[in-house]
Amino acid sequence: MQGDVESILLTEAQISRRVEELGREIARFYQDSQDGIVIVPILSGSIVFLADLIRKLPIRMRIGMAIASSYVGTTIRPEGARLLARLLPRIKDREVLIVDDILDTGGTLRLVQQNIAEGEPRRICTAVLLRKPGKAPPDVAVDFVGFDIEDRFVVGYGLDYNDLYRNLPYIGVLRPELYED
Ligand code: XMP
Repeated sequence: MQGDVESILLTEAQISRRVEELGREIARFYQDSQDGIVIVPILSGSIVFLADLIRKLPIRMRIGMAIASSYVGTTIRPEGARLLARLLPRIKDREVLIVDDILDTGGTLRLVQQNIAEGEPRRICTAVLLRKPGKAPPDVAVDFVGFDIEDRFVVGYGLDYNDLYRNLPYIGVLRPELYED
């Protein structure tokens, strides 16, 4: 599996340092929130980021989930985001923090942000580990960003290609000949 990766973009140590910083930033941002926040990870890509981030957030929180998909099988071209399922505690009048692995074209986050907004939360903020700058339209706003990266298809630390590689502890670029695109 490691041999399928052409280059490592972000090492385990770099990710861990940045997630710790993000945790401090986010905890400071919500320090006055009395009722705590509702964290809504977008599965499956954000699972590893979520697990690390919440353990760096010493604040009152509830966790829901949204399941979305934008790729089918072995493609790396987004095919239009779909919200497959949602499992949420009450969000009305509460602070919601959506957590996703990557902001790429923005289709997935727009869909989830709009869907969550219908539940009338007090405010919606969004944290992403990765962002490919300049790709998402300006109406898809994110409040916390781990890293801006170049426009390559990346895997690892929760991100997959064809449902593989999520367990790599780093973020890497796959060897291009592995893509059936
Ligand atoms: P959009 O384009 O809707 O993408 O912002 C969001 C979702 O698509 C997946 N995605 C990727 N997955 N490497 C991946 O493994 C990538 O480079 C990549 N770009 C987008 C991801 O699940 C994200 O939530």
